[in-house]
Amino acid sequence: MYSTSHTQKLQTLSTNLLQKVKAHSLKASDITHLREALRFHEYRYYILNDPLFSDFEYDSLYKELEKIEAENPSLITSDSPTQRVAIGLTKDFPTVQHLVPMLSLENSYDAEDLIDWDRKARELTGLTEVEYCVEPKFDGASISLIYENDLLVRGATRGDGVAGDDITTNIKQIRSVPLSAAFSKYGIQQIEIRGEVLMNKNNFKKYNDQLVEQSLAPLANPRNAAAGSLRIKNSKEVSRRNLEAFLYHVSYFTNVDGWTMTDGRLIKTNNDHHSTANLLLTHSDSLKMLWDLGFRSPQKEKKVLTGIESVIDYCNQFEKERDDLPYEIDGMVIKVNDFLLQDKMGMTTHHPRWAIAFKFKARQATTKLRAVEFQVGRTGAVTPVAKLDPVFISGVTVSSISVHNEEYIKEKDLKIGDSVLIERAGDVIPQIVKSLTELRDGDEQEIVFPKHCPVCKSKLTKEDEEAVWRCVNIECPAQVVERIIHFASKDAMDIRSFGDANVRKFFNLGFLKDVPGVYNLPFDKIAMLEGFKEKSINNLKTAIENSKQQPLHRLIYALGIRFVGETTAKVLAAFIDYLPNFKNYSIEDLQNMEDIGPKVAGSIYTFFRLPDNIKMLHELEALGLNLKSNKSAMVAGSSLEGQTFLFTGTLMQLKRSDAEEMVEKNGGKLLSGVSSKLNYLVVGEDAGSKLEKAKKITSIKVLSEKEFLQLING
Ligand code: IVH
Repeated sequence: MYSTSHTQKLQTLSTNLLQKVKAHSLKASDITHLREALRFHEYRYYILNDPLFSDFEYDSLYKELEKIEAENPSLITSDSPTQRVAIGLTKDFPTVQHLVPMLSLENSYDAEDLIDWDRKARELTGLTEVEYCVEPKFDGASISLIYENDLLVRGATRGDGVAGDDITTNIKQIRSVPLSAAFSKYGIQQIEIRGEVLMNKNNFKKYNDQLVEQSLAPLANPRNAAAGSLRIKNSKEVSRRNLEAFLYHVSYFTNVDGWTMTDGRLIKTNNDHHSTANLLLTHSDSLKMLWDLGFRSPQKEKKVLTGIESVIDYCNQFEKERDDLPYEIDGMVIKVNDFLLQDKMGMTTHHPRWAIAFKFKARQATTKLRAVEFQVGRTGAVTPVAKLDPVFISGVTVSSISVHNEEYIKEKDLKIGDSVLIERAGDVIPQIVKSLTELRDGDEQEIVFPKHCPVCKSKLTKEDEEAVWRCVNIECPAQVVERIIHFASKDAMDIRSFGDANVRKFFNLGFLKDVPGVYNLPFDKIAMLEGFKEKSINNLKTAIENSKQQPLHRLIYALGIRFVGETTAKVLAAFIDYLPNFKNYSIEDLQNMEDIGPKVAGSIYTFFRLPDNIKMLHELEALGLNLKSNKSAMVAGSSLEGQTFLFTGTLMQLKRSDAEEMVEKNGGKLLSGVSSKLNYLVVGEDAGSKLEKAKKITSIKVLSEKEFLQLING
């Protein structure tokens, strides 16, 4: 898209513009340059993942453009970078016809299927070897885009394949979709392209964490998150979801020479003898064109191959790297590369004969829902847990799954005795995707919610806008024990060898009554229990003792204040000098802090206003825990300020999360992928593609775990 010299020119232009901003000498006549610069930086950021400007620098140019446009409305163009910002709500999404029906793909599951398909392809084309283009099968929500005279005029969902919903405003929130693209350079007047909208794994995890923090049900997979996000009526919210798009198929175009292409079929609509120099003739050419015009097409991921054996090899290679990719793919797509051959092979009503999907090992399985049990959590929320016939999915056996709340059960139409489809997407907790209602035989039973707490028998209550039923008795033994389990857990105080089972055992034996009790365990009595030898007792003592040194943000998270997840805990820890001082903060004070909304602020306020909680904090302090902020410690250790890190492979001495925390504590930043922004790649055992990629970028320093520890220790 941008040559080296063009890149340099645009970078100089951008720096000049920034200087003008500082000198207040920017004029309305700079508007074209401003847009050019902003588009260039969007491309560096969203397509190449390799920005040349800081967010702050980008934002200051963006604000200037907004200002000039506000003063001169006649200068606004529909493809101006400011026009992604949608205000207000969409009423309904009108139905629109696709220019070409969006067909499905035929599926294959193993090498044999592909060998059969290749045989058919050779028969139909009459060739001994066919050239294929092989690319990832992105697991998201499919979309179609139309550009006319270089402008994005429409974005639509797949719908039933013939007609979908017009979601143009939402599509404009996806920063990797260009609002204009120079198709005219290729003589193209109108073009329809297809692709997949994705939410990357990182953003999906963050999004699900937010849902859980708000007591809402998490989504089963990033595909559902992407599909759901596209249909939100508030485009500002769509923008916040940070969606991405890969464009992989040109389904239709018309060009200045009178050619029309429809799904591989080229037809000349006039008799003029113009050149065909710019005419797209292959699928790989179309991916290259899209890439050159600033789209994120699988230009780097695709491979053009002849011979089905090399196709199979490439598919297997990609499957191995599947977990290392920042987004989900569920297979590969193999396409006959030449449009003339595509046309010769044609299509069925369901799928083109010139393409096939090679599906990776399923992360879904079906099983039976046998019963529902109700568990009381640390905040009193009563969670229904579905008991399933054990089923094996991508490496683990799943036999019980949270079904979150009453609404969720209704929405998914779950009944006892149902066959259910479950999914384990990446490293996300397994979820029920749906019940297979068509398999019902009439013996299925409704799931009945209890009216009383299954543990302390007090009456359950539900607030109006809430989805969960709660036991409000804060002394309910189920809640107390869950609070202690959470307190000791890995992401909280990280007291190893003090997991679920031991906490429950000690609690049931009366050795432990509350959180401070963790630091007052009767070890003489514990020593008499079966399975507690001197060594394990010493390990437990050390782990408990060490936990007293945990940083403040871990303690805050460990307290289990509703809606306070790890992120909010960090915000609070960075803010306060001495934890009990929060008792003097009003809801407004709390809301003025970064990323803290009214709901979270309300919950923090309530927690610190309860005298029992303050008493507990002082007890913990007397037992040797740290209630003071380690702000000064952070500054002293900020040796990695401005440095970026990424970990790959299995670390031997450290846990990945601990190593990442060490980076952050020392002022360093974590990145999610290899790019020229990365300073250090820390490599454990069995490192894969990230290491290979990093070796190609000379500025990245590759460290072993040992070297990393040396760096941290100065
Ligand atoms: S080509 C006419 N290429 O998979 C053929 N589809 O299961 C058009 N998909 O509906 C489709 N990645 O939503 C194609 N690289 C890729 C793809 C891809 C994902 C989706 C697409 C399609 C579905 C079929």
